[in-house]
Amino acid sequence: ELKAVVFDLDGVLADTAVLHRAAWQQLAAEIDAPLDEATAERMKGVDRMGSLEILLEHAPRRYGDAEKAELAARKNARYAELIEHLDPNNLLPGARAAVESVRHAGLKTALASASRNAPRLIERLGIADLFDYVVDASHITHSKPDPEIYLAAAAGLGLAPADCLGVEDAAAGIASIHAAGMAAVGIGRADALAEADVLLPNIAAFDIDRIRTKSGPPAR
Ligand code: BG6
Ligand code: MG
Repeated sequence: ELKAVVFDLDGVLADTAVLHRAAWQQLAAEIDAPLDEATAERMKGVDRMGSLEILLEHAPRRYGDAEKAELAARKNARYAELIEHLDPNNLLPGARAAVESVRHAGLKTALASASRNAPRLIERLGIADLFDYVVDASHITHSKPDPEIYLAAAAGLGLAPADCLGVEDAAAGIASIHAAGMAAVGIGRADALAEADVLLPNIAAFDIDRIRTKSGPPAR
């Protein structure tokens, strides 16, 4: 029985996937690493160091741990600066309504973000009070696609994972949701999210009544 919806943040509720991408793109240019669409897509949903490792796969040279830490910090300084300019207008259309509709339906809500900037971001976006529980990368050890973050969200809500539904824009996120034993709603394009149980073009198309009544979350 569906009792809660766990939302990803970047690319699902906020249009920050493009900001992460812009910050990575600038770093990529500085170190002469090519960053094509397919590589950028793989970096989505993955934590900071995991994203950097993917970028460095095509870098012209190898980097040591201290250098990697510096590169990640450089990217993050830029990203952190970018999100300071955000406000509730930077929520994706329909994002607030989607989370509120879940609450109004009597279900619980949680946030499961791979970003350490998530607490600051939801404050800037004015949605911090919409979640019963928030898990970000600083609370967990294993990044998406590992199930840890979605399992932590269910545990934080006091619910069994099977009673939760996850919502994600990245393949790594869908894999994390499924590994946790939850059904997954994919937000975005079919080519990137083939594994999703339900695919929606954007968060504005999220209809909790339809998900509940029509099919229910697909049993897994
Ligand atoms: C995820 C994004 O939500 O957070 C990734 O999809 C990003 O692109 C990751 O790399 C880590 O974010 P941060 O803010 O901790 O560097
Ligand atoms: Mg995302």
